[in-house]
Amino acid sequence: MPHPFRFELLAVDERTGARAGLFHTPHGIVETPCFMPVGTRGTVKGVWPHQLREIGAQMILANTYHLALRPGEEVVAGLGDLHEFMHWDGPILTDSGGFQVFSLNTLRELTDDHVVFRSHIDGSLLELTPERAMQIQEQLGADCIMCLDECPPHDAPREQLIAAVDRTTAWARRCRDSHQRDDQALFGIVQGATDRELRERSAEGLRPLDFPGYAVGGLSVGESPEEMYATLDFTVPLLPEDRPRYLMGVGRPIDILEGVLRGIDLFDCVMPTRNARNATAFTSRGPVKMRNLKHQNDVEPLDPDCDCPTCRSFSRGYLRHLFVTGEMLGGMALSVHNLAYYQRLVRDLRTAIKSNRVLEFHAAHLAGQADGP
Ligand code: GUN
Ligand code: ZN
Repeated sequence: MPHPFRFELLAVDERTGARAGLFHTPHGIVETPCFMPVGTRGTVKGVWPHQLREIGAQMILANTYHLALRPGEEVVAGLGDLHEFMHWDGPILTDSGGFQVFSLNTLRELTDDHVVFRSHIDGSLLELTPERAMQIQEQLGADCIMCLDECPPHDAPREQLIAAVDRTTAWARRCRDSHQRDDQALFGIVQGATDRELRERSAEGLRPLDFPGYAVGGLSVGESPEEMYATLDFTVPLLPEDRPRYLMGVGRPIDILEGVLRGIDLFDCVMPTRNARNATAFTSRGPVKMRNLKHQNDVEPLDPDCDCPTCRSFSRGYLRHLFVTGEMLGGMALSVHNLAYYQRLVRDLRTAIKSNRVLEFHAAHLAGQADGP
């Protein structure tokens, strides 16, 4: 079998380092830069798989932590694998569960060997080790899987940040050593908060492990956007050029633009779907709050520059009505639109990079966002 994963760089922008590429996986080719909709529990909330495909989503993300708790990886494996389970035959990436253990505030014990946490569902005590994180992700069967990592608060004491970097490196080695399936690409995760030395220490520890892809973790966890961009400025050049680079959990449209300009290839974020359920739409003119009375009698589509199923079907007045009355189609329709907005953003970025216009695209995007990015 030829190697199922190949990352092909099609263009690198000379002025910025922004890249356009093709990431070959067992379930298809992903065009990069790519935005992955988040399907935490094996569903992108409120959106059908065929709609994801229709709006141009290519790879989606699911969470080991949530799926291991419910329904359990054995159940998913018994129903085929994650692709069959959720009826998405395109590429999938699963996060390892480490981040959720830290961010959902369920952490009970953390040692070099393992992390013990309380289930946020029934309170029972559970253990995660690097080996166990690999076993679960092998059973779920995503194309790309993530190492178990430790993501401390960005403003944690320096000793804790150093310990987290070293533990993440030691765990990455154990993940690599126990991972068996060669039809899955295991990504390493660089930690180190906003500290240049710590990011160097992390990348130097992970590079010899020769992962097929590298993620930048530990960002968008409370630091300012400027700190995040500055961290990317010195972190991305530490990563191998010929592997996909994934900025985890980011972000706003402007953060995706800034990440792409710094050489990031993959992104994921709950923002388009979460904001949709809260009645906030991303549009070519900036954010729009759909509950606002001013939309009541508006026959215009949500975004005149959008050709998504929502904008082709519904008026602003109707969408507002759905939210004001608590109808579930409101969140569903806005999720499709917001995801379409993100997919258009990365598609336009790919085109701009290939035609040497990415800085001009960046400027035009900022100019178009009347209400700010
Ligand atoms: N999602 C967002 N940030 C992170 C991170 O630092 N680690 C992991 N595993 N997932 C994330
Ligand atoms: Zn739309």
